[in-house]
Amino acid sequence: MATDVPEGSVRNILEQETLKWVFVGGKGGVGKTTCSSILSILLAQVRQSVLVISTDPAHNLSDAFQQRFTKIPTLVNGFSNLYAMEVDPKVEGDDLSDEGLDGFLSELTNAIPGVDEAMSFAEMLKLVQTMDYSVIVFDTAPTGHTLRLLQFPSTLEKGLEKVMALKNKFGGIMNQATRLFGLGDEFSTDAMLGKLEGMKDVIEQVNRQFKDPDLTTFVCICIPEFLSLYETERLVQELTKFEIDAHNIIINQVLFDDEAVESKLLKARIKMQQKYIDQFYMLYDDFHITKLPLLPEEVCGVQALRKFSQHYVSPYKPDLTRGTLEEVQQRISILKLQLEEAKLELETLQKGKQDA
Ligand SMILES: Nc1ncnc2c1ncn2[C@@H]1O[C@H](COP(=O)(O)OP(=O)(O)O)[C@@H](O)[C@H]1O
Ligand SMILES: [Mg+2]
Repeated sequence: MATDVPEGSVRNILEQETLKWVFVGGKGGVGKTTCSSILSILLAQVRQSVLVISTDPAHNLSDAFQQRFTKIPTLVNGFSNLYAMEVDPKVEGDDLSDEGLDGFLSELTNAIPGVDEAMSFAEMLKLVQTMDYSVIVFDTAPTGHTLRLLQFPSTLEKGLEKVMALKNKFGGIMNQATRLFGLGDEFSTDAMLGKLEGMKDVIEQVNRQFKDPDLTTFVCICIPEFLSLYETERLVQELTKFEIDAHNIIINQVLFDDEAVESKLLKARIKMQQKYIDQFYMLYDDFHITKLPLLPEEVCGVQALRKFSQHYVSPYKPDLTRGTLEEVQQRISILKLQLEEAKLELETLQKGKQDA
């Protein structure tokens, strides 16, 4: 049945009304920020309110929209329901400014690497969860970094287990010690545990939302090159392992052949790209794969983003009116030849049928 074949567009994301979190990830420079911005623009057309957040320390939502953003959600110029913010997961950790907790966290970080970052990521997710947006688009950092953050629930859980074990072993002694040295109540293991228990609730809540395909999906951005294919496969496998839904791949910067390309270099690149595009389709036959053209210029500013967004909802078709008159005439003669060949083939087929 035709409806079983995934459509080559991101329409499915726009139609999934239950979605709350859309994560956009991939290698650096492939077009994550551009795609996040455009997805948020498209979502703003169908959802009540949209927030796009950059969690990549190398922020560039500001570049894409040509507007300065901060860690406070700001209305994007020209929209009434689209907001943007840029957060740095590491710096946000400063919000846990309670000294006891901070000292404790750094201790914990030594024991379990990445726990501080994971914690601030969880805090950020908790914060945005309290904000009243219909859907949030996350422009994430390059793959390796993102994968680390996605592990955060298990990282933190491991941390908790370690602390629990410590408490059971040494809890009594530690409490005595804090009293002995007059360190005050906030240093007691019970207080620490209380805080950790609080975190555990946040983690569990975030984790539940993370793993619910009705609420959360991950969009993989890539380009038709070996390294990007390889990295996408790693990303998809990790997402599967973490039970995070992913069923969209966007292949960006595609060169299309139909434009009477003359350049040998371009022709070679197109051939190479096609090889990897074929592999994408083979590997991810149950994904929605959206192909986007490589543009001659950057995609900067709301107008350019809006214009580019059309290729997200309906597959790109090279503009046939482009090119010189000669090129068009050449293309027409090629098409005529192909038509003749097809006619001949049809005739042979029909003859064969009659003879049989
Ligand atoms: N299809 C495209 N054609 C031309 N330029 C593009 C295309 N997609 C993205 N760009 C440009 O490439 C640069 C990198 O894109 P960006 O979205 O910032 O990548 P990332 O966030 O993955 O690092 C930006 O200047 C952007 O405008
Ligand atoms: Mg970016």
